[in-house]
Amino acid sequence: MTRMTTLLLAAAMLLAGAPAAQAAERAIEDKVDALLARMTLEEKVGQLHQLSGRQMTGPGSEKFADKLADIRAGKVGSMLNVKGVADTREIQALALQSRLKIPLLFSLDVIHGYQTVFPVPLGEAASWDLAAIEQSARIAAKEAAASGIHWTFAPMVDVGRDPRWGRVMEGAGEDTYLGARIATARVRGFQGERLGALDRVMATAKHFAGYGAAIAGRDYNAADMSEQQLHEVYLPPFKAALDAGVATFMNSFNTLNGVPATASSYLQRDLLKGRWQYPGFVVSDWASVKELVEHGYAADLAQAAVQAINAGSDMDMEGYAYTRHLADAVNAGRVKPAVLDDAVRRVLTKKFELGLFDDPYRFSDAAREKAVLGDPEHSRIAREVARKSLVLLKNEGSLPFRKGLTSLALIGPLADAKRDLEGGWIVQSDERRVVSLADGVRAQLAPATRLTVARGCDVACTDTQGFAAAVAAAQDAEAVLLVLGESWDMSGEAKSRADIGLPGRQAALFDALAATGKPVVVVILAGRPLVFENVADKAAAILYAWFPGAQGGNAVADVLFGAYNPSGKLPMTFPRSVGQIPISYQQYRTGRPVLDPANIVYRSAYIDAPNTPRYAFGHGLSYTSFAYSDLALSKSAMRQGDKVTLSFTLANTGARAGEEVVQLYLRDPVASVVRPLMELKGFQKLGLAPGERRRVSFEIDRDTLAFHGSRLAWVAEPGDFELMIGTASDAIRLRGKLTLLD
Ligand code: BGC
Repeated sequence: MTRMTTLLLAAAMLLAGAPAAQAAERAIEDKVDALLARMTLEEKVGQLHQLSGRQMTGPGSEKFADKLADIRAGKVGSMLNVKGVADTREIQALALQSRLKIPLLFSLDVIHGYQTVFPVPLGEAASWDLAAIEQSARIAAKEAAASGIHWTFAPMVDVGRDPRWGRVMEGAGEDTYLGARIATARVRGFQGERLGALDRVMATAKHFAGYGAAIAGRDYNAADMSEQQLHEVYLPPFKAALDAGVATFMNSFNTLNGVPATASSYLQRDLLKGRWQYPGFVVSDWASVKELVEHGYAADLAQAAVQAINAGSDMDMEGYAYTRHLADAVNAGRVKPAVLDDAVRRVLTKKFELGLFDDPYRFSDAAREKAVLGDPEHSRIAREVARKSLVLLKNEGSLPFRKGLTSLALIGPLADAKRDLEGGWIVQSDERRVVSLADGVRAQLAPATRLTVARGCDVACTDTQGFAAAVAAAQDAEAVLLVLGESWDMSGEAKSRADIGLPGRQAALFDALAATGKPVVVVILAGRPLVFENVADKAAAILYAWFPGAQGGNAVADVLFGAYNPSGKLPMTFPRSVGQIPISYQQYRTGRPVLDPANIVYRSAYIDAPNTPRYAFGHGLSYTSFAYSDLALSKSAMRQGDKVTLSFTLANTGARAGEEVVQLYLRDPVASVVRPLMELKGFQKLGLAPGERRRVSFEIDRDTLAFHGSRLAWVAEPGDFELMIGTASDAIRLRGKLTLLD
């Protein structure tokens, strides 16, 4: 075959692939239309009603006679909180007794693992390792899909800049760019190439939109922000999820600029389904349609139903607004039949794409469930992802621990905790499979090392009676390891905290140990950045472990004993005090910046605290050291449409192999809309052997330089741009300048 023929053949194959996909799409459209034509008004409404079910099968199920009858009558389109092959089969069988035998969609909050629990999403984000994050979602999907689940309510892609808000745990942190990249990885991991594979589930981009900006960090509170802020900071991760093909969106509980998101035509109709051309469906958040009444936006449930469906909310989760009032609203002309049909069409399309009309039980296969759940390979990967998520905040040389320690005192309320390591949103795990820190540490200690475990107090730490024993254990040991932090239920939904310090007297426990004069190594477990000033000042080393999942104890021990060189970087800024919140590295410029910290008179500053955080976004230490040098740009000036390559040399100058997350930041010094001091525009996670040097490059184009200008136009304005390469947002190592020409 000549080269030309090969090329032609390849091109023909590529072209043939596209029409095949289009034909499949058209075939589904035809089937949806045909089905829709046979449906009664009530049956259509049924497809938009989502019910929660627990204990709806087996003994006690008769309590749910009404719900079960509704499913049989074709009045329910989807269930959440039904899982497992046996239960999903039993409930699906009811739906198949309905006139049109339309299968149910089974959904669940598979947020960071199904049976195998991975680190909480914020922890995974700290890995900055997109492949690892995608793999975690892939395994969660595989396990859930083997257990009858079609659809997960993840990823949460809300940007979070207020650590008082407990749900920062479920997201990717404060940064829009990092959040968008992680959103893409998670959607790919959950969904794979196309819907219908038996080891994947549909993903949900949630909560649309602005939920992360709840005023004062209080969950469910109003959000109020400029359009600029919305489009620049909060929306891009949603757009990234959409571009990655996310099957569904969930709207949010909050009002945004005075309108509840669930009733927002601007968000759902104009933007999402309009300008963004989103083809999937929008599910409400739990009862958020009904809550339009509590918001004071709808007079009653009937009006709430009309507002929500007209605004583009397709499915009503546990709100009972659609099932009770939508048919009447259509009959009365308050909702156009075409609006209803569009919503139903979007839901049915997903059911066809998943292959449920061919075989409604295809995800509910007992043999597959048995083979997939409990696969030890999943735990091995969970351990790998967990160790990548750990962030070494501080190290004065105590870590890694010496292999041949004679004795170690393991102290603290979380020293042997299991449930707390998993964090919130656990759907199918077995606590007995969790490796505690005590277990993990014990497994890596030399047989001769003496390990003493003393809790000191419980997590709430109101009682200090155990402190004396803890101090005695510390005095008696060669090394002291203290495990502090939150219990699993202190972060997550409805877990806002006004004080994000270490709970109770935990800081005093640290002080008591530090007073012995021994170096105290601290591990902190939490679902959010905490404030721990005395520990930050006086600890010998601090490892931030988030809620690291079922393999947490092994992962933490891997880092403590040097089997793994820590590589995590903070995805959220750690403030010095609650007073600095909301806080982000991405500060806007002011007319009165602090130029000299010793002179803050009439400057944008606090008189009782510095502006700087305790630990900056992007911060995280390693057991090795990295040197940055020789920044070069392929050209120093570009035109719109050009591409420029920025490159530099990264060298591992220490004695251990290690991974570094190199970060590219940008500043636009003069613009028609005042720009932040710095914005993340790229990152790479690279592993280098000791002594290894590598040339690293980033491509810069118009999009790197652009922002939302007046009327939200996407503009790149001619002028100079500052480029910064750093190991953290507050540790810039190299700087360059690029000019955008007219
Ligand atoms: C949460 C959602 C979740 C839903 C279903 C709501 O309270 O806000 O994130 O997916 O419940 O469990």
